[in-house]
Amino acid sequence: MKNQEKIIDEIVKKVVSKISNQDAMDTESCGLFDSMNEAVEAAYKGQKELMDRSMSDRRKYVECIRAELLKSENLHTLSKLGADETGMGKYDHKLIKNRLVVEKTPGIEDLVTEAMAGDDGLTLVEFSPYGVIGAITPTTNPSETIICNTIGMIASGNSVVFAPHPRAIETSKTTIKLINKALNEAGAPKNLVVSINKPSINEANTMIHHPKIKMLVATGGPDIVRIVLSSGKKAIGAGAGNPPVVVDETADIEKAAKDIIDGASFDNNIPCIAEKEVIAVDAIVDYLIFNMKKNGAYELSEKAKINELRNLVITPEGKPKTEFVGKDASYILDKIGIKADHDIRMIIFEAEKDDLFVIEELMMPILPIVRVDNVDQAIDLAIEVENGNRHTAIMHSKNVDKLTEMAKKIQTTIFVKNGPSYAGIGVGGEGYTTFTIAGPTGEGLTSAKTFARKRRCVLVGGFNIK
Ligand code: COA
Repeated sequence: MKNQEKIIDEIVKKVVSKISNQDAMDTESCGLFDSMNEAVEAAYKGQKELMDRSMSDRRKYVECIRAELLKSENLHTLSKLGADETGMGKYDHKLIKNRLVVEKTPGIEDLVTEAMAGDDGLTLVEFSPYGVIGAITPTTNPSETIICNTIGMIASGNSVVFAPHPRAIETSKTTIKLINKALNEAGAPKNLVVSINKPSINEANTMIHHPKIKMLVATGGPDIVRIVLSSGKKAIGAGAGNPPVVVDETADIEKAAKDIIDGASFDNNIPCIAEKEVIAVDAIVDYLIFNMKKNGAYELSEKAKINELRNLVITPEGKPKTEFVGKDASYILDKIGIKADHDIRMIIFEAEKDDLFVIEELMMPILPIVRVDNVDQAIDLAIEVENGNRHTAIMHSKNVDKLTEMAKKIQTTIFVKNGPSYAGIGVGGEGYTTFTIAGPTGEGLTSAKTFARKRRCVLVGGFNIK
C-alpha cells in the first residue's frame, strides 16, 4: 500500500513538473492569466477564431482532450490532487469519476439539427454557440466539472472562462493546463479554455459581471449558485440536492442494502446525486440494516453517540461543518471515540424524520434511516425531505405502480430505480454523464446542446421532397 502511494506521488510530481515547464513558455499556451479581465478578453478572441473552424475540427479538439486526459498518469494526477488538495472524497473513486467524464461526456454528436419540411419549404433549428461562457466550478468535483463543462462547451462552439473554487486551485489549474496542452497539439485556436492564477470570489464576481460573458454556468454550493442566478444574465444553476432513497417491502432487500451503501459511500458521499437518507418501511428495516452492515456500514445505536456525532459534524446553525465533508467514515468515527476498520465505509443509525441528519445535505458518509409504516408514507416523506431541490431520488421496489407514483410525484431531475444513485450519471446505468446537473433552472443533465442557443433558419418554398 505504502509502495503504491509512493509510486502515485512520483507520477503526480512528474506530471505537475512537466506542465509547469509548459507554463514557463507563455501564458497563452496554458490558458492561465493574472487577471480575470485578461482571461475573458483572451477567451473572446479564441471563440471568434473557433467560429472559423469546422465541425470536424471541433470533433478533433474534443477527441484530443479525451486522449490526453485518458493517459494513465494524467488520470492518476488529477484524482490524487483532487483528493489531497480538497481533503474531500477518495482517490480511487475520483479515478472512476475522472475517467467517466472523459469517456461519457457527449461531444458534437449531441447537437442534432431539428428540421421541419412542408409545402412552404424547409426550416432548420440549429444549436449555435453563446460566445464566451463563464463557468463556476466546485470543490467537491473540481476536475470532473471542468472536464465535462469543457467538452460540452467547446463542442457547441463556445470558449470558456473558469472560476474554480478557491480550495481546489491546484487541481483546477492542472486540469486546465492539461486541456490546453491537448488543444495546442490539436492546432485549436488559443485560449478556448482559460482561467486565472489566483481564483477568488472577487475574480468570480468580475467574471459574472463582465459584458463579454454571455452565459453563466454555476456548479457549486447554494451561495454561489444564488449569486449567479441573480446576475441578470442567461444562467444555468446546478446546486444542492438531498437525495432520499425509499425501500419498500417488495424490494430485493439484500441487493438494495448493497446498492445503497455502494452509492452513498461513493467518493465519501460528496456527489450531489448520492443517497443522503434512507426511508424504509417497518416490515423490512431490520433486515435492511443487517444487510447494510454486511456491506461495510457501522451502526450507531446509542442515542448519546448519535448526539455526539451531530455536535461534531453539524454547525449550531444546522449546516455541515466543511472540515468533515467527504471525510472517511473511520476518520469521523474516530473523532467520537470509535475505532473502526478502514473497510467501514458508512455510518448508519435510525433517526426521526425531522432530524437535521435527514433534512440537511451533509455530503459525509453518514446515512440516517427513517422507519415508516408503509410505502405511501415513505413516498410522502421522501418528497418532503428532498425539499423541492428536484435533484435526485432513488427507490428500491418491485411494485411498478409505486415506482411510477414516486417518480411522478417527486419531480427530481434524476430518478434511479433499483440501483445505486450513480447509475443516474452513467456508472452502471445507461446514458451520458455530467457533473453539472441543473435542477433549479431545468436543463437537467447538461451536455453540449445545453450550452447552445437554438436558432431557426428558414428556406422558403424549396427542399421539401416528401
Ligand atoms: N469561485 C470563487 N468563490 C467561490 C466558488 C468559486 N467557484 N465557489 C464558492 N465560492 C465561495 C463562496 O461564495 C463562499 O464565499 P464567501 O466565504 O465569501 O461567502 C466561499 O467560496 C465558500 O463557499 P462554499 O464552498 O460553498 O462554502 P463551505 O465551505 O461552507 O461549503 C461545501 C462547502 C462542500 C458544503 C459547499 O461547497 C457545497 O455545498 N458544495 C456542493 C457543490 C456541488 O457539487 N454542487 C452541485 C452538484 S450538481
